[in-house]
Amino acid sequence: MERAPTMTAVPRDWEEFHPRPVSERVPFFTRKGRLYDCLFAQQFDRKLLDHLCRVADHLRAAMKTKEGALAAANLLPHKRAMLYFVQPSTRTFLSFLNACHILGLRTSEIRDTTTSSEVKGESPEDTVRTFSSYVDLIIMRHPAPGFVEKTAWVMNRAKRAVPVINGGSGSDQHPTQALLDVYTLCRSLPGGLDGKTVAFVGDLKRGRTVRSLSYLMKNYKDVKLVFVSPPQLKMEADILAFLKRHHIPYRECDDLTTVLPEADAIYMTRIQDEWDKANESKGMDYSRFNLKQEHLAKLKPTCAILHPLPRRHEIETTIDDDERAVFWRQERNGMWIRAALIAYIFGQDKEVLAIK
Ligand code: NCD
Repeated sequence: MERAPTMTAVPRDWEEFHPRPVSERVPFFTRKGRLYDCLFAQQFDRKLLDHLCRVADHLRAAMKTKEGALAAANLLPHKRAMLYFVQPSTRTFLSFLNACHILGLRTSEIRDTTTSSEVKGESPEDTVRTFSSYVDLIIMRHPAPGFVEKTAWVMNRAKRAVPVINGGSGSDQHPTQALLDVYTLCRSLPGGLDGKTVAFVGDLKRGRTVRSLSYLMKNYKDVKLVFVSPPQLKMEADILAFLKRHHIPYRECDDLTTVLPEADAIYMTRIQDEWDKANESKGMDYSRFNLKQEHLAKLKPTCAILHPLPRRHEIETTIDDDERAVFWRQERNGMWIRAALIAYIFGQDKEVLAIK
C-alpha cells in the first residue's frame, strides 16, 4: 500500500498532532480516499456504512456453503494480523479473530503485557512497532484513550506502514462496536434506522460503546435519541455538543419506564466501574436502569433490545426468549461486519461481493 501523504500540513510531532480536531486528523488515516486505519466513529459516512452492511450480508450468505467459505478464505491468505488486546475482551477479540480467519488471514495475539518485552522495559510504542515487522494489520484494545491512535500514527510514518483497527480505546471510543450496532439496528428495525427513536440506557458517562454509536447517528435521517441514566452517569458534554452541531434531537432523563413506549430500539449498558476512579458509582442502586420482564408489555411490538455485552443484571435473562431481544444476534453480527471492514481496508470488498 502507498505511504501516508507527505506531511507538509501534518505536524511531525504527535504532541502537536493529537490535540487537533478529529476532522483534521482523519485525512492522515485515509489513503486513496479510503479509510485505512479505523480509529474513530467519525470516520464513517452513510455511503461507507451501507456498503459495509452489504458486504457483511454477502459474506454471511456466502459462508453458508463450502464453496463460498473457500472463496472467502482465498481473499487474504497472504496477509497476517496481530491482535494486541491488553484489556479484558471476549467477543471483540473472538469476533475479530474469526473475522480474520473467514478471510484467510493468519493471526497472532498478545493479550497480556507481562508476556511481551514490555516487562523488560521496552516502551509500548517500540513494542507495537515490532509487530509491523511481522504482520500486515494490527487490531488493538488498550486502556489508554489515545494509544491506539498513537500506534496508527507511528505505523503510518514507519517505512513499512500497517493499518490499525481500534478494538476499544479506554473509555473513549469503540468504533467497530458502533458498526455492529448500526448493522444490527438496520437489520432488526422495520424500514431500517432512519426516522427511529433510540434509547441509550445506563452508564452513558463512561461507556465507550454509546459514545461511538452516538457519533454514527449523524449518518441516519430523523433519528431521535433518549439518554436514560442516573444523574451521576450522564452522557458527556462533548457528545451532546456533537449532536447539537449535527441537529440530532436528544433528551436526557432518569426514568426508564417513561421511555419504554416511545422507543424503537433500546440499547442497554452495564455500569463501567473499571473506570471508577472517583467512586462515582460505588454503592449506587442501578436496578432502575435494568430491563425487566414486566417492562416488555410497555414496549412496541417491533422494538429491538440491544446490549453490547457483557451483561450483569441490565436485562433479565427471561427476556432472552422474547423476539425483540437481538443482543445475541448483535454479538454474532460483530464477526460479519468486522470481516467486511477488514476486507474493505485491504481493498477486497468488491471481491467479497463477487463471491457466488
Ligand atoms: C463493551 C466494551 O468493551 O466496551 N464490550 C464489548 O466490546 N462488547 C462494553 C462493556 O464492556 O460494557
